[in-house]
Amino acid sequence: MNIKNICCIGAGYVGGPTMAVIAQKNPDINVTVVDLNEKRIAAWNDENLDNLPIYEPGLDQVVGEARGRNLFFSTAVDEAIDNAEMIFISVNTPTKTYGVGKGMAADLKYIELCARQIARVAKTDKIIVEKSTLPVRTAQAIKSILDNTGNGVKFQILSNPEFLAEGTAVEDLQAPDRVLIGGEQTPEGLAAIEALVNVYGSWVATENIITTNLWSSELSKLTANAFLAQRVSSINALSELCEVTGADVNEVANAIGKDSRIGPKFLKASVGFGGSCFQKDILNLVYIAKSYGLDAVADYWEQVIIMNDHQKRRFAKNMVKTLYNTVSGKKIAFLGWAFKKDTNDTRESAAIYVADILLDEQAKVIVYDPKVTAQQMYADLDYLQTRSSEANEQGLTVVKNPYEALQGAHAIAVLTEWDEFKTYDWQKIYDTMQKPAFVFDGRSVLDKAALEQIGFQVYVIGQ
Ligand SMILES: NC(=O)c1ccc[n+]([C@@H]2O[C@H](COP(=O)([O-])OP(=O)(O)OC[C@H]3O[C@@H](n4cnc5c(N)ncnc54)[C@H](O)[C@@H]3O)[C@@H](O)[C@H]2O)c1
Repeated sequence: MNIKNICCIGAGYVGGPTMAVIAQKNPDINVTVVDLNEKRIAAWNDENLDNLPIYEPGLDQVVGEARGRNLFFSTAVDEAIDNAEMIFISVNTPTKTYGVGKGMAADLKYIELCARQIARVAKTDKIIVEKSTLPVRTAQAIKSILDNTGNGVKFQILSNPEFLAEGTAVEDLQAPDRVLIGGEQTPEGLAAIEALVNVYGSWVATENIITTNLWSSELSKLTANAFLAQRVSSINALSELCEVTGADVNEVANAIGKDSRIGPKFLKASVGFGGSCFQKDILNLVYIAKSYGLDAVADYWEQVIIMNDHQKRRFAKNMVKTLYNTVSGKKIAFLGWAFKKDTNDTRESAAIYVADILLDEQAKVIVYDPKVTAQQMYADLDYLQTRSSEANEQGLTVVKNPYEALQGAHAIAVLTEWDEFKTYDWQKIYDTMQKPAFVFDGRSVLDKAALEQIGFQVYVIGQ
């Protein structure tokens, strides 16, 4: 099938950048990204590309090139579904917060709503592409809804999980390590796979496009995130051991990373992983394993989350202990709130949890992040429901100038590895701080020796 019109439901961190690159690389295909969130769509359509709802290096250029030519952002969901031969579902699949599987299983209500809407609207045959990360065997549920409530048209379901990393999304999409496409192993299924292979084929080499059955594709995405998060928890577990034994976690990571079987990437000790995916996808994997009675498998992967929670708590508690066992009334400056650099995404960011613990200890937290809004930071804290919104607003202050955050502070906590933090005038910062001036580097980004030379007392994870 020759695809001329693509619709993508969900204009978020995945749907927006992914479709922008598909449109950029396929000028002959019309790509319409739809969302229920009018504000988000308006931001995608903003003439000023600085106002796109998602910050990703290089994204403004890609959107600038394709938008209005063959890339469109709209709230007219039915119309886009009707016009498209291929529909990507890229809606959120958060952890369930209610009922059976609460706190573990993926909440598939948004996926089901999409399936029902497609079934209601579609008048011609469609290929449905699961772009969202989904529990293994979800395609079966989608197919059942489509086949039983549709208008008698034929649907093929493909799984095409997204492996982009936020902060490098455009780079990852333009030169992916691989594209994964799973589909039914029937003549119709194989034809649908081929149609999607052709879309990617306009810029991705054929040998980097892997095709599998549906279940392998769905499970591969959960597995990839579980392995990545496991590496972070593994090195973080060792960071605590380094601190008590005199070993240096960066030296250990460098030594083991030279082993080609281990490899050097993803071995940086930190205050813990965040982001919308790792935790939710592992919890989901644990839930699936449990639901098949595979308790040992479930327990094995759950430990990755337990270790991550421990690391965040340990960082905050170490701050309190170092600051003479009390931070009450003390000014603690945060550098960074996003879960990693080069993104404005804060979901599950370690900063939120560290702030929550420090606010419980009655600290005055002042935050500077180059890309995250104050509104988002307060929303993140309110989401935890630890205290009232008023109390969060009283305890946490957000500033737009880093030097303002750091002035008069008792301690600084680095929670995101933004490059600009390395370029600050640290002597000037030291001069304006309370003494002794403490730095807790949760991302190992600052020059410890240089800071100590100035007079700072520096704590770096794993040293
Ligand atoms: N963020 C990442 O780095 C990343 C990477 C790979 C995969 N994923 C997966 O991709 C999926 C989407 O993630 P995201 O980060 O883009 O989420 P997101 O929350 O940023 O975006 C989802 C969007 O879908 C919209 N939406 C929900 N239901 C809708 C409906 N019925 N009709 C129209 N719009 C609807 C929401 O309004 C929202 O804007 C998730 O399953 C996630 O696990 C995310």
